[in-house]
Amino acid sequence: MNSHVSPGGYTGTSPHWLREPADVNDLVSILWPSTARKDDDGVLHIGGLAIPDLVANVNTPAYVLDEADFRERAGAFRDAFAGYDVYYAGKAFLSVAVAQWVAEEGLSLDVCSNGELSVALRAGVDPRRIGYHGNNKTPMELRRAVDAGVGRIIVDSFHEIDRVADVATQLGVVQGVMIRVTAGVEAHTHEFIATAHEDQKFGFSIASGDAFDAASRVLAQKSLELRGLHSHIGSQIFDTSGWEVAGRRVLALHARIADELGRVLPELDLGGGFGIAYTTQDDPADPAVLAAQITKIVTGECAALGIDVPHLSIEPGRAIVGPAMCTIYTVGTVKQVALDGGAIRTYVSVDGGMSDNLRPALYDADYSCTLASRASSAEPVLARVVGKHCESGDIVVKDEFLPGDVAPGDLLAVPATGAYGRSMASNYNHALRPPVVAVKDGRARVIVRRETEEDLLATDVG
Ligand code: LLP
Repeated sequence: MNSHVSPGGYTGTSPHWLREPADVNDLVSILWPSTARKDDDGVLHIGGLAIPDLVANVNTPAYVLDEADFRERAGAFRDAFAGYDVYYAGKAFLSVAVAQWVAEEGLSLDVCSNGELSVALRAGVDPRRIGYHGNNKTPMELRRAVDAGVGRIIVDSFHEIDRVADVATQLGVVQGVMIRVTAGVEAHTHEFIATAHEDQKFGFSIASGDAFDAASRVLAQKSLELRGLHSHIGSQIFDTSGWEVAGRRVLALHARIADELGRVLPELDLGGGFGIAYTTQDDPADPAVLAAQITKIVTGECAALGIDVPHLSIEPGRAIVGPAMCTIYTVGTVKQVALDGGAIRTYVSVDGGMSDNLRPALYDADYSCTLASRASSAEPVLARVVGKHCESGDIVVKDEFLPGDVAPGDLLAVPATGAYGRSMASNYNHALRPPVVAVKDGRARVIVRRETEEDLLATDVG
């Protein structure tokens, strides 16, 4: 933490990475969707719409999704990873409209639950372009997926191999499967979202030999077609060194399967996990740079092993929808709290919180925010934006500079909430989950409506 004195004489305590902005009204462009801008009155516009006008109709809190930005990011991955299949990871955020955009942009879709599969099918996504994940899919869920014609099921346990084989036999089909492997890589990310180290629930360990055994078990099943190996090393990752180590281990297994089991697997999936900027601390790589590095890693390793490069796929979620969406809140109360050492922190309470963005509470995640409804010439103050839930960990933005005159009725916008925001939202404290409003070319369309009290009470049968 830094102690600092602002040009205006304000003394505060902020994390080392947080710099007082030259103009607190400015947008830090890397955090925002491509159409976001502020007008001369400091009013935030996204998709050609003024945010205060938008929320006058839909109320706050609300998620605003920039359709053009979503499509640009999807297209950037598609083009940068030309020759790969790009599966959009629907767990980051999925709705019928978004599944349709994904298909229209030429991407495939990764689902990891029966519910996500329902959304994809309702959206009319070609089932052959759907991959189905999960470490504990029930026989009923598997039957539905196989019956729907899902292109690939990513199997995660020996029990599941037997289950998919049984279901496929019963339905008289041959089901494409991938084997989820763990490569023993510690990705540099939060423990809960790192997935390729050994001591966790996902996948078959390469090191223990389970992954090889899984391959021979799948190959022995007439009702299964082994498409390839699948490795996902974690989430919110910025450098490709994790993929390098994982890629080497996974390709070594791929080569061993060809050698010892006589089957050259046609595909290989390297998972998702590409990081985005939540604050000025983060410096994500361009998809083109990622593509070049990852392709080099895989082609180099295949050449060293003397094998053909399999057909590759990736599964980005966060990097496509994360920056495309932001959350708009209304300020309800403001108070100053004295910190040890005499600094002051301004607590700004908004009308949402951990029910619409669990990530700060769950992962200690940092976010940023800006005043969306006006400009201010007041000196910046170090603020903490908090929600309205009954616990002190209910933080929306831990540290941010906001104008010192921030007041009830102001609108605040928090960027980069698209991934795992609405999708991990809850009804904690019987909160009503906010709508998702898609904006494009000056028009707004509610693609997920706000929950109502009737929705909330509908499941409470007394
Ligand atoms: N593929 C697989 C197999 C995955 O498990 C995941 C994420 C992805 C792709 C997409 O990862 P992405 O590109 O979105 O990072 N709730 C956490 C993230 C959990 C990620 C779970 N798996 C968060 O809010 O950070």
